[in-house]
Formats: sequence, structure tokens, C-alpha cells
Amino acid sequence: MELQINGRTVQADADPGMPLLWVLRDVLNMTGTKFGCGVAACGACTVRVDGAAVRSCAVPVSAVVGKRIQTIEALGTPDKPHALQLAWIAEQVPQCGYCQSGMLMAAAALLDKTPRPTDADIDAAMTNICRCGTYQRIRVAIKRAAGVAPGGAVKKAKA
Ligand code: FES
Ligand code: FES
Repeated sequence: MELQINGRTVQADADPGMPLLWVLRDVLNMTGTKFGCGVAACGACTVRVDGAAVRSCAVPVSAVVGKRIQTIEALGTPDKPHALQLAWIAEQVPQCGYCQSGMLMAAAALLDKTPRPTDADIDAAMTNICRCGTYQRIRVAIKRAAGVAPGGAVKKAKA
């Protein structure tokens, strides 16, 4: 089937009922998106579909045909990182790192919808699980990224 992933048209040889996560990782070898629980509980597998944060382990690939899929591979590049990635580095957010691609995709969806999120906005949108307990740093990093003008320097967020 034909999928729109990270701005490209991609052919995937997969059963229509296969979860999107499996298609990304096992069929297309895009391993930036992680498998955690497999039951839509942890958020490690979060990608964006038409801009919204979606848990790809629980979505059959047939449901995203014709939609815009974005994965962590296209959030930024080493030469042109996303503001969230700069803030993540500045705040030293990742610990083991396993949950972080899903966290970043959820945060990107939040900032596109709510460019200046409050703590309540962040808590409502960021329901992913981090077993290393990076939640406080994630909150600070999201606020830090929210204060960045396009192409500008990362500013320290207010606590
Ligand atoms: S692996 Fe999808 S929510 Fe946990
Ligand atoms: S950084 Fe280890 S699970 Fe989140």
C-alpha cells in the first residue's frame, strides 16, 4: 500500500490490519519510533498523523492511508534541529532515552496546537510514560521551546 511518510510517498508491503508501528519498524526499517507496551498505554510509539499525536501500536496501517504521517526521523536534522530538540538538549532531558522519540512527537503536536502551553496544557497533552521520570525536565523543555522565535536562539523558560 501507499503511505505518505515524512513528506514522501512510500510503498509498504504490509497486511492492512498490521499496526502502523510494525509497518514503520519491521517493514520500512524506520526504527526511531519505539515499541513499549503495544496496547496504547505508554506512548513510546507516538507519531503524528495529520498533525495529531497518535499511538502507532494501536492503529491499523489501513487507517492512515492518504494521511500525512510524521515520525521522529523528520522532526529535525542534526544541521537543522527542531526547537524542541534544542530545548531537550539544553535541559538534558533524556535519561535512558527510550521514551523520548514518542515524547518529542507528542510535544510537537502540542506546540503546533498550543504555541504557549500552560502547565495544565502540558499535563493534559503529555500522557506518555517515562520510567526514568523525566517529566519535570520535559515540562521545562517544552516551555523553553515555546519561547523560541523561528531560527532564533533557545531562551531560558520561566519556571
Ligand atoms: S507501544 Fe504504543 S503506546 Fe506503548
Ligand atoms: S528517558 Fe528512560 S524511559 Fe524516559
